[in-house]
Amino acid sequence: MKAVEIKKDIYWVGAIDHDVRNFHGYLTQRGTTYNAYLIIDEKITLVDTVKDTHTDEMISRISHIIDPSKIDYIVCNHVEPDHSGSLSAILKYCPNATIITCANGEKGLEQYYHGNWNYHIVKSGDAVSIGKRTFNFVLTPMVHWPDNMISFMPEENILFSNDSFGQHYATSGRFDDEVSKDEALFEAKKYFANIVLPYSNQVKKELEAAQNFDIKLICTSHGIIWRSYVADIIQLYHNWAHNVTQKKAVIAYDTMWKSTEKMALTLYEAFVKKGYEVALRNLQVNHESDVMTDVIDSEYICVGSPTLNSEIMANVAGFLTYMRGLAPREGRKAIAFGSYGWNAKSVAHIEQYLQGCNYDIVASFNQQYRPTQDDLQQITEKTIQLIS
Ligand code: FEO
Repeated sequence: MKAVEIKKDIYWVGAIDHDVRNFHGYLTQRGTTYNAYLIIDEKITLVDTVKDTHTDEMISRISHIIDPSKIDYIVCNHVEPDHSGSLSAILKYCPNATIITCANGEKGLEQYYHGNWNYHIVKSGDAVSIGKRTFNFVLTPMVHWPDNMISFMPEENILFSNDSFGQHYATSGRFDDEVSKDEALFEAKKYFANIVLPYSNQVKKELEAAQNFDIKLICTSHGIIWRSYVADIIQLYHNWAHNVTQKKAVIAYDTMWKSTEKMALTLYEAFVKKGYEVALRNLQVNHESDVMTDVIDSEYICVGSPTLNSEIMANVAGFLTYMRGLAPREGRKAIAFGSYGWNAKSVAHIEQYLQGCNYDIVASFNQQYRPTQDDLQQITEKTIQLIS
Protein backbone atom coordinates (compact mmCIF):
# COMPACT_ATOMS: atom_id res chain seq x y z
CA MET A 1 0.00 0.00 0.00
CA LYS A 2 1.28 3.41 -0.92
CA ALA A 3 2.04 6.26 1.43
CA VAL A 4 0.69 9.73 0.66
CA GLU A 5 3.20 12.60 0.63
CA ILE A 6 1.45 15.48 2.39
CA LYS A 7 4.47 17.82 2.28
CA LYS A 8 7.96 17.24 0.98
CA ASP A 9 9.39 14.25 2.88
CA ILE A 10 6.37 14.05 5.17
CA TYR A 11 4.08 11.12 4.52
CA TRP A 12 0.75 9.84 5.74
CA VAL A 13 1.38 6.16 6.50
CA GLY A 14 -1.78 5.33 8.42
CA ALA A 15 -4.59 2.88 7.79
CA ILE A 16 -8.19 3.11 6.66
CA ASP A 17 -10.78 1.08 8.54
CA HIS A 18 -13.81 1.08 6.26
CA ASP A 19 -15.69 -1.52 8.28
CA VAL A 20 -15.62 -0.45 11.93
CA ARG A 21 -19.09 0.53 13.13
CA ASN A 22 -18.68 0.42 16.91
CA PHE A 23 -16.03 2.46 18.67
CA HIS A 24 -16.80 1.62 22.30
CA GLY A 25 -20.47 2.38 21.82
CA TYR A 26 -20.09 5.18 19.30
CA LEU A 27 -21.74 4.34 15.95
CA THR A 28 -19.00 4.98 13.39
CA GLN A 29 -21.26 4.84 10.39
CA ARG A 30 -18.55 6.10 8.06
CA GLY A 31 -15.74 3.90 9.43
CA THR A 32 -12.53 5.59 10.53
CA THR A 33 -8.85 6.01 9.83
CA TYR A 34 -5.86 5.61 12.13
CA ASN A 35 -3.38 8.23 10.98
CA ALA A 36 0.37 7.88 11.36
CA TYR A 37 2.96 10.17 9.77
CA LEU A 38 6.50 9.45 8.65
CA ILE A 39 9.03 12.27 8.42
CA ILE A 40 12.25 11.77 6.54
CA ASP A 41 14.87 14.00 8.14
CA GLU A 42 18.25 13.46 9.81
CA LYS A 43 16.32 11.49 12.39
CA ILE A 44 13.61 9.46 10.69
CA THR A 45 10.51 9.95 12.77
CA LEU A 46 7.16 8.20 12.94
CA VAL A 47 4.30 10.12 14.56
CA ASP A 48 1.89 7.69 16.21
CA THR A 49 0.98 4.25 14.92
CA VAL A 50 -2.31 2.48 14.15
CA LYS A 51 -4.69 -0.02 15.71
CA ASP A 52 -3.14 -3.49 15.85
CA THR A 53 -5.67 -4.86 13.36
CA HIS A 54 -4.10 -2.60 10.74
CA THR A 55 -0.38 -3.02 11.54
CA ASP A 56 0.44 -4.64 8.21
CA GLU A 57 -1.19 -1.80 6.32
CA MET A 58 0.93 0.80 8.14
CA ILE A 59 4.16 -1.18 7.74
CA SER A 60 3.43 -1.66 4.06
CA ARG A 61 3.05 2.11 3.61
CA ILE A 62 6.23 2.83 5.59
CA SER A 63 8.13 0.24 3.58
CA HIS A 64 7.05 2.02 0.42
CA ILE A 65 9.23 4.94 1.57
CA ILE A 66 12.03 3.47 3.72
CA ASP A 67 13.16 0.31 5.42
CA PRO A 68 11.31 0.46 8.80
CA SER A 69 14.53 -0.53 10.57
CA LYS A 70 15.78 3.01 9.84
CA ILE A 71 13.23 4.69 12.11
CA ASP A 72 14.99 6.64 14.87
CA TYR A 73 12.10 8.23 16.76
CA ILE A 74 8.48 7.36 17.35
CA VAL A 75 6.38 10.19 18.77
CA CYS A 76 3.58 8.76 20.87
CA ASN A 77 1.02 11.51 21.36
CA HIS A 78 -1.55 9.22 22.99
CA VAL A 79 -1.49 5.76 24.57
CA GLU A 80 -4.98 4.60 23.52
CA PRO A 81 -4.50 1.41 21.49
CA ASP A 82 -5.99 2.79 18.28
CA HIS A 83 -2.74 4.81 18.10
CA SER A 84 -0.25 2.72 20.03
CA GLY A 85 -1.49 -0.73 19.02
CA SER A 86 1.24 -1.25 16.42
CA LEU A 87 4.16 -0.03 18.55
CA SER A 88 5.31 -3.51 19.51
CA ALA A 89 5.22 -4.64 15.88
CA ILE A 90 7.10 -1.64 14.46
CA LEU A 91 9.69 -1.80 17.25
CA LYS A 92 10.57 -5.33 16.14
CA TYR A 93 11.97 -3.65 13.00
CA CYS A 94 13.70 -0.82 14.85
CA PRO A 95 14.32 -2.02 18.43
CA ASN A 96 16.73 0.83 19.16
CA ALA A 97 14.26 3.55 18.22
CA THR A 98 13.39 6.05 20.92
CA ILE A 99 9.79 6.71 21.85
CA ILE A 100 9.16 10.40 22.48
CA THR A 101 6.26 10.79 24.87
CA CYS A 102 5.29 12.44 28.15
CA ALA A 103 5.64 10.88 31.62
CA ASN A 104 2.03 9.70 31.60
CA GLY A 105 2.64 8.32 28.12
CA GLU A 106 5.55 6.20 29.29
CA LYS A 107 3.56 5.00 32.28
CA GLY A 108 0.56 4.07 30.15
CA LEU A 109 2.60 2.36 27.43
CA GLU A 110 4.46 0.26 29.97
CA GLN A 111 1.18 -0.70 31.67
CA TYR A 112 -0.24 -1.75 28.31
CA TYR A 113 2.73 -3.38 26.62
CA HIS A 114 5.45 -3.94 29.27
CA GLY A 115 7.98 -3.21 26.53
CA ASN A 116 10.76 -1.68 28.63
CA TRP A 117 11.46 0.43 25.55
CA ASN A 118 13.75 3.47 25.12
CA TYR A 119 11.96 6.66 26.05
CA HIS A 120 12.64 10.36 25.74
CA ILE A 121 10.22 12.11 28.08
CA VAL A 122 8.95 15.56 27.16
CA LYS A 123 6.87 18.16 28.93
CA SER A 124 5.05 21.26 27.72
CA GLY A 125 7.46 23.70 26.11
CA ASP A 126 10.06 21.09 25.26
CA ALA A 127 11.42 20.98 21.72
CA VAL A 128 13.07 18.07 19.95
CA SER A 129 15.02 18.63 16.73
CA ILE A 130 15.04 15.88 14.14
CA GLY A 131 17.35 17.76 11.75
CA LYS A 132 15.77 20.46 9.61
CA ARG A 133 12.58 20.22 11.59
CA THR A 134 11.56 20.54 15.22
CA PHE A 135 8.74 19.21 17.33
CA ASN A 136 7.40 21.59 19.96
CA PHE A 137 5.37 19.70 22.51
CA VAL A 138 2.32 20.77 24.48
CA LEU A 139 0.86 18.36 27.00
CA THR A 140 -2.93 18.21 26.78
CA PRO A 141 -3.86 15.80 29.57
CA MET A 142 -7.45 14.56 29.53
CA VAL A 143 -8.17 15.45 25.94
CA HIS A 144 -9.16 12.73 26.54
CA TRP A 145 -6.65 10.49 28.43
CA PRO A 146 -4.00 11.53 30.99
CA ASP A 147 -1.25 10.94 28.41
CA ASN A 148 -2.45 13.17 25.57
CA MET A 149 -0.10 15.66 23.98
CA ILE A 150 0.09 17.57 20.74
CA SER A 151 3.13 18.70 18.81
CA PHE A 152 3.72 21.63 16.50
CA MET A 153 6.35 21.64 13.78
CA PRO A 154 7.06 25.33 13.00
CA GLU A 155 9.21 24.74 9.91
CA GLU A 156 6.21 23.10 8.22
CA ASN A 157 3.38 24.86 10.12
CA ILE A 158 1.97 21.46 11.04
CA LEU A 159 0.05 20.69 14.20
CA PHE A 160 0.06 16.97 14.99
CA SER A 161 -3.13 17.03 17.03
CA ASN A 162 -3.81 13.34 17.65
CA ASP A 163 -7.49 12.85 18.64
CA SER A 164 -8.27 16.59 18.72
CA PHE A 165 -9.95 17.83 15.54
CA GLY A 166 -10.35 14.20 14.42
CA GLN A 167 -13.30 12.49 12.83
CA HIS A 168 -14.31 8.86 12.44
CA TYR A 169 -14.44 9.16 8.68
CA ALA A 170 -12.98 6.62 6.24
CA THR A 171 -12.46 8.17 2.83
CA SER A 172 -10.09 7.88 -0.09
CA GLY A 173 -9.33 11.60 0.30
CA ARG A 174 -6.67 12.49 2.84
CA PHE A 175 -7.42 16.22 2.99
CA ASP A 176 -10.50 18.21 3.96
CA ASP A 177 -10.85 19.68 0.46
CA GLU A 178 -10.88 16.22 -1.14
CA VAL A 179 -14.11 15.21 0.61
CA SER A 180 -17.48 16.78 1.35
CA LYS A 181 -16.85 19.70 3.71
CA ASP A 182 -20.25 19.17 5.33
CA GLU A 183 -19.53 15.48 5.99
CA ALA A 184 -16.10 16.23 7.45
CA LEU A 185 -17.45 18.93 9.76
CA PHE A 186 -20.40 16.77 10.78
CA GLU A 187 -18.11 13.86 11.67
CA ALA A 188 -15.82 16.25 13.59
CA LYS A 189 -18.86 17.47 15.52
CA LYS A 190 -19.97 13.91 16.25
CA TYR A 191 -16.44 13.07 17.39
CA PHE A 192 -16.34 16.05 19.75
CA ALA A 193 -19.81 15.24 21.14
CA ASN A 194 -18.99 11.59 21.81
CA ILE A 195 -15.32 11.71 22.83
CA VAL A 196 -14.11 15.18 23.73
CA LEU A 197 -17.13 16.98 25.21
CA PRO A 198 -16.56 16.13 28.91
CA TYR A 199 -13.08 17.63 28.62
CA SER A 200 -14.11 21.01 27.23
CA ASN A 201 -12.15 22.93 29.87
CA GLN A 202 -8.98 21.13 28.84
CA VAL A 203 -9.80 21.84 25.17
CA LYS A 204 -9.95 25.55 26.00
CA LYS A 205 -6.36 25.34 27.28
CA GLU A 206 -5.34 23.43 24.17
CA LEU A 207 -6.88 26.12 21.95
CA GLU A 208 -5.03 28.81 23.92
CA ALA A 209 -1.76 26.99 23.30
CA ALA A 210 -2.60 26.58 19.62
CA GLN A 211 -3.03 30.35 19.30
CA ASN A 212 0.75 30.65 19.57
CA PHE A 213 1.25 28.52 16.46
CA ASP A 214 0.89 29.53 12.83
CA ILE A 215 -1.01 26.42 11.81
CA LYS A 216 -1.41 25.62 8.13
CA LEU A 217 -2.06 21.89 8.47
CA ILE A 218 -3.73 19.96 11.27
CA CYS A 219 -2.60 16.37 11.01
CA THR A 220 -5.18 14.53 13.09
CA SER A 221 -5.05 10.91 14.16
CA HIS A 222 -8.51 10.14 12.72
CA GLY A 223 -10.08 11.12 9.43
CA ILE A 224 -8.95 13.84 7.09
CA ILE A 225 -6.11 16.33 7.48
CA TRP A 226 -7.32 19.92 7.78
CA ARG A 227 -5.65 22.33 5.35
CA SER A 228 -8.41 24.37 3.65
CA TYR A 229 -10.75 24.61 6.63
CA VAL A 230 -8.28 25.05 9.50
CA ALA A 231 -9.96 28.27 10.68
CA ASP A 232 -13.42 26.65 10.46
CA ILE A 233 -12.56 23.65 12.61
CA ILE A 234 -10.71 25.75 15.19
CA GLN A 235 -13.70 28.12 15.46
CA LEU A 236 -16.08 25.17 15.85
CA TYR A 237 -13.87 23.65 18.57
CA HIS A 238 -13.96 27.02 20.29
CA ASN A 239 -17.79 27.07 20.14
CA TRP A 240 -18.20 23.48 21.31
CA ALA A 241 -15.67 23.84 24.13
CA HIS A 242 -17.29 27.10 25.27
CA ASN A 243 -20.73 25.49 25.39
CA VAL A 244 -22.19 27.76 22.69
CA THR A 245 -25.76 26.69 21.94
CA GLN A 246 -28.06 27.40 19.02
CA LYS A 247 -31.76 28.14 19.07
CA LYS A 248 -32.28 24.41 18.99
CA ALA A 249 -34.06 21.67 20.92
CA VAL A 250 -33.49 17.93 20.89
CA ILE A 251 -36.36 15.63 21.85
CA ALA A 252 -35.25 12.05 22.56
CA TYR A 253 -37.88 9.51 23.51
CA ASP A 254 -39.26 6.01 23.24
CA THR A 255 -42.91 5.04 23.24
CA MET A 256 -45.07 1.94 23.80
CA TRP A 257 -48.58 2.81 22.57
CA LYS A 258 -47.85 6.26 21.14
CA SER A 259 -48.92 8.32 24.17
CA THR A 260 -45.38 9.47 24.94
CA GLU A 261 -44.88 9.98 21.21
CA LYS A 262 -47.90 12.30 21.10
CA MET A 263 -46.29 14.32 23.89
CA ALA A 264 -43.00 14.38 21.96
CA LEU A 265 -44.75 15.60 18.82
CA THR A 266 -46.57 18.26 20.83
CA LEU A 267 -43.26 19.54 22.21
CA TYR A 268 -41.86 19.45 18.69
CA GLU A 269 -44.70 21.65 17.38
CA ALA A 270 -44.32 24.10 20.27
CA PHE A 271 -40.58 24.56 19.67
CA VAL A 272 -41.10 24.88 15.90
CA LYS A 273 -43.76 27.50 16.53
CA LYS A 274 -41.22 29.51 18.53
CA GLY A 275 -38.70 29.34 15.69
CA TYR A 276 -36.45 26.64 17.10
CA GLU A 277 -34.60 24.06 15.06
CA VAL A 278 -35.83 20.76 16.51
CA ALA A 279 -34.21 17.32 16.37
CA LEU A 280 -36.96 14.77 17.06
CA ARG A 281 -35.20 11.49 17.87
CA ASN A 282 -37.13 8.29 18.50
CA LEU A 283 -34.56 6.16 20.31
CA GLN A 284 -35.95 3.01 18.70
CA VAL A 285 -34.43 4.12 15.41
CA ASN A 286 -31.75 6.69 16.34
CA HIS A 287 -28.39 5.76 17.83
CA GLU A 288 -27.50 7.46 21.10
CA SER A 289 -24.21 8.70 19.66
CA ASP A 290 -26.12 10.51 16.90
CA VAL A 291 -28.46 12.06 19.46
CA MET A 292 -25.40 13.32 21.37
CA THR A 293 -24.38 15.14 18.19
CA ASP A 294 -27.68 17.03 18.48
CA VAL A 295 -27.25 17.62 22.21
CA ILE A 296 -23.93 19.43 21.77
CA ASP A 297 -25.46 22.66 20.46
CA SER A 298 -29.04 22.41 21.76
CA GLU A 299 -30.40 24.89 24.28
CA TYR A 300 -33.18 22.49 25.33
CA ILE A 301 -32.80 18.76 25.99
CA CYS A 302 -36.18 16.98 26.24
CA VAL A 303 -36.35 13.31 27.20
CA GLY A 304 -39.44 11.12 27.33
CA SER A 305 -40.35 7.58 28.25
CA PRO A 306 -43.44 5.71 29.35
CA THR A 307 -43.26 3.84 32.64
CA LEU A 308 -42.36 0.20 32.06
CA ASN A 309 -42.41 -2.07 35.12
CA SER A 310 -41.79 0.92 37.40
CA GLU A 311 -38.78 1.91 35.30
CA ILE A 312 -38.16 3.68 32.00
CA MET A 313 -37.67 2.06 28.62
CA ALA A 314 -34.24 0.43 28.46
CA ASN A 315 -33.01 2.40 25.46
CA VAL A 316 -34.00 5.70 27.14
CA ALA A 317 -32.07 4.60 30.25
CA GLY A 318 -29.13 3.70 27.99
CA PHE A 319 -29.22 7.08 26.31
CA LEU A 320 -29.51 8.95 29.61
CA THR A 321 -26.59 7.03 31.09
CA TYR A 322 -24.51 7.76 28.00
CA MET A 323 -25.47 11.45 28.00
CA ARG A 324 -24.79 11.81 31.74
CA GLY A 325 -21.20 10.69 31.12
CA LEU A 326 -20.71 13.16 28.29
CA ALA A 327 -23.03 16.00 29.25
CA PRO A 328 -22.13 19.61 28.84
CA ARG A 329 -22.30 21.03 32.34
CA GLU A 330 -23.59 24.55 31.96
CA GLY A 331 -26.58 26.42 30.73
CA ARG A 332 -28.76 23.65 29.35
CA LYS A 333 -32.48 23.49 29.99
CA ALA A 334 -34.33 20.20 30.17
CA ILE A 335 -37.86 18.86 29.96
CA ALA A 336 -38.87 15.40 31.23
CA PHE A 337 -42.05 13.80 29.95
CA GLY A 338 -43.78 10.46 29.73
CA SER A 339 -46.97 8.49 30.04
CA TYR A 340 -47.95 5.75 32.48
CA GLY A 341 -50.78 3.34 33.14
CA TRP A 342 -51.16 2.97 36.91
CA ASN A 343 -47.74 3.75 38.36
CA ALA A 344 -46.28 7.10 37.40
CA LYS A 345 -42.54 6.52 37.71
CA SER A 346 -40.83 7.35 34.43
CA VAL A 347 -40.74 11.14 34.69
CA ALA A 348 -39.19 11.03 38.16
CA HIS A 349 -36.53 8.61 36.89
CA ILE A 350 -35.77 10.86 33.92
CA GLU A 351 -35.54 13.89 36.20
CA GLN A 352 -32.94 12.11 38.30
CA TYR A 353 -30.77 11.47 35.25
CA LEU A 354 -31.20 15.05 34.04
CA GLN A 355 -30.20 16.37 37.46
CA GLY A 356 -27.11 14.17 37.18
CA CYS A 357 -26.32 16.07 33.98
CA ASN A 358 -26.65 19.36 35.92
CA TYR A 359 -29.36 20.51 33.56
CA ASP A 360 -31.96 23.02 34.68
CA ILE A 361 -35.27 21.10 34.52
CA VAL A 362 -37.74 23.75 33.44
CA ALA A 363 -40.82 21.55 33.01
CA SER A 364 -42.07 18.00 33.47
CA PHE A 365 -45.13 16.43 31.89
CA ASN A 366 -46.70 13.26 33.28
CA GLN A 367 -49.67 11.70 31.48
CA GLN A 368 -51.88 8.78 32.47
CA TYR A 369 -52.82 6.54 29.55
CA ARG A 370 -53.56 8.51 26.39
CA PRO A 371 -53.43 12.32 26.34
CA THR A 372 -56.56 14.15 25.21
CA GLN A 373 -56.44 17.22 22.99
CA ASP A 374 -56.84 19.30 26.13
CA ASP A 375 -53.87 17.57 27.76
CA LEU A 376 -51.74 18.20 24.70
CA GLN A 377 -52.92 21.80 24.53
CA GLN A 378 -51.70 22.31 28.09
CA ILE A 379 -48.27 20.97 27.13
CA THR A 380 -48.20 23.33 24.17
CA GLU A 381 -49.21 26.35 26.21
CA LYS A 382 -46.77 25.69 29.04
CA THR A 383 -43.89 25.00 26.64
CA ILE A 384 -44.53 28.12 24.59
CA GLN A 385 -44.78 30.13 27.78
CA LEU A 386 -41.46 28.90 29.14
CA ILE A 387 -39.53 29.46 25.92
CA SER A 388 -41.00 32.91 25.29
FE1 FEO B 1 -8.23 7.82 18.87
FE2 FEO B 1 -8.26 8.40 22.18
O1 FEO B 1 -7.86 7.47 20.65
